[in-house]
Amino acid sequence: MKPNELTAPDIDRLVVDLADQGEFHVHRDVFRDPAVFELEMKYIFERNWVFVGLDSQAPNPNDYFTTWVGRQPIIVARDKHGKLGAFINSCAHKGARIAHHRDGNAKQWVCSYHGWAYDTAGACIYIKDQDAGCYAEPFNKLDHGLKKVKFGQYRGFLFASLSDDVPPLDEHLGGAKELLDLVWDQGPDGIEAIPGVSSYTYNANWKMQVENCIDAYHLTSCHPSFMNIVSRRKAGESDNKQVKSIDFNLMSQVKGGGYTFPRGHAVGFFDNPVPQERGLYQHHDELVARVGEQKARWMYAGRNLTIYPNVQFAENASLQMRVIRPLSVDKTEMTIYCLGAKGESDAAREIRVRQYEDFFNTSGMATPDDTIAYEDCQVGFKASVLTQMQGYGRGMTNVVAGADERATEVGFTPATSSTGPFAMQDETVMFGGYRAWKKFIKDGLAADGVA
Ligand code: FES
Ligand SMILES: [Fe+2]
Repeated sequence: MKPNELTAPDIDRLVVDLADQGEFHVHRDVFRDPAVFELEMKYIFERNWVFVGLDSQAPNPNDYFTTWVGRQPIIVARDKHGKLGAFINSCAHKGARIAHHRDGNAKQWVCSYHGWAYDTAGACIYIKDQDAGCYAEPFNKLDHGLKKVKFGQYRGFLFASLSDDVPPLDEHLGGAKELLDLVWDQGPDGIEAIPGVSSYTYNANWKMQVENCIDAYHLTSCHPSFMNIVSRRKAGESDNKQVKSIDFNLMSQVKGGGYTFPRGHAVGFFDNPVPQERGLYQHHDELVARVGEQKARWMYAGRNLTIYPNVQFAENASLQMRVIRPLSVDKTEMTIYCLGAKGESDAAREIRVRQYEDFFNTSGMATPDDTIAYEDCQVGFKASVLTQMQGYGRGMTNVVAGADERATEVGFTPATSSTGPFAMQDETVMFGGYRAWKKFIKDGLAADGVA
C-alpha cells in the first residue's frame, strides 16, 4: 500500500478510541505497515517538535553534536558567541554530510568533498576557488549557508522542528514541563549526560519502546532474572557490594499509576519505598531546601517519562535518557545516556553509575530483556490474520479525565490520571500517545488535502 492510499478513515480504523465505553483498540498494522511508518515520519517526526539533545552536550562555544530529526541528518551547534542552533547536516554544494562525528569542537566545518567551509552559526565562509569559478549572478545571489532548522529550548532540553508550522515549544510540552523539571532540578545547576553514551538497534517498531517505558505490567514477567538477583543480594547471597540495587520486589507495597498529556507525552510513576538508595539522596538536605519535601518525594519516585515522540527519561534504577530513532517500520536505533546532577558528589555519581550499569546499560540486566520482547512482538505481528491486540485494558475503570487528587496536590495538569495500587499496572497511560498519533497524522493529511 502506498502512503497516499491511507486516508483519515484508515487512521480512525487503526486506533479505535472508545475509552468512555471501556474500549481502546490499536490495530497491529500500526506496528507493521510501511505506509503507516511513512505517515509517522512525515507528520509526527518531520512536522513536529523533536528532542535533539541536552545543552550539556555542547557546553562551550563551537561545540557541536550530530543527530537526526526523523530521517534528516542534523547538527546542533553552539556558535562562537555561545548561541545554540540547529542545521541540516548537508553541504549546500552537492549535499555531502559536513560533520562526521557524534560530537566535537570546531571553529568551522570543511566539506570533505569540494572543500566549502561553514562556521558554527551555519554561514558558508569559503567556496574553494570561487574567483576562478566563472559563477553567474544567480549563483552569487544564493544563500550558500547550511539550512537552519527551527530550534527551541526548555531548561537544558533542546528541540528542533523541520516545520515552522508548529505551536510554540512551551505549548507543545504543556503540562509535561513539570515532569521535565523533576529531571532538571535534581541539581542546582541542572543535569548533564555522564560520558559513556551507547547506541544499539532492535528489530521492531519504534512505538514498542514508546509503550514499554510506561508499561508497568511487564516488570515482573520480563525481568525475573534481575529481580531474582536483587533478592539474593538483599539476602546476603552475593559478593557484589558495589551496587545499591533497586528492589522492584517492593513494588507490591506501593502506589503507582500514569498521567497523559496532550501531544502524546506521558509518565508512568510509582512511589519509592527506599529513597535513601538513590544517588540523589546523597544531597537530600540541599534538595529539600531547594525544591521542598513534596517535589523531592516526586524526584525519588519512579517516573518513566516519554516526551513524544522520541525521548524518554526513565527514573527508577538510576536516571536514563533514551533517544529513539526510527529506521524503518521494523527497525529502531536507540541512543542511551546515564544522567546525573551537574556538580554532584563522587559518592552520588558512583551510586547512579553503578545502578545504571546494573539495570539500564546495553550490558545491564534489563535492556536486553525488553528488546527481545519487542522483537518477539514484531515477529508475532507477521501474523496478518490477526488485527487487534488486547493490551490496552488495564486501568480502564480507574482512569479519570484531568488531574486526580494526587496530581492536583503537586500541581500537575494531565489530560488523564490513573492512580492506584502498583499491581493495577495501568495501560491507559498509553492512550495519550495514540490520541496524539491520530491527531498528528489526521491533521497532516488534512493539511495536505488528503481526505
Ligand atoms: S559537496 Fe560539499 S563542497 Fe561539494
Ligand atoms: Fe523493561
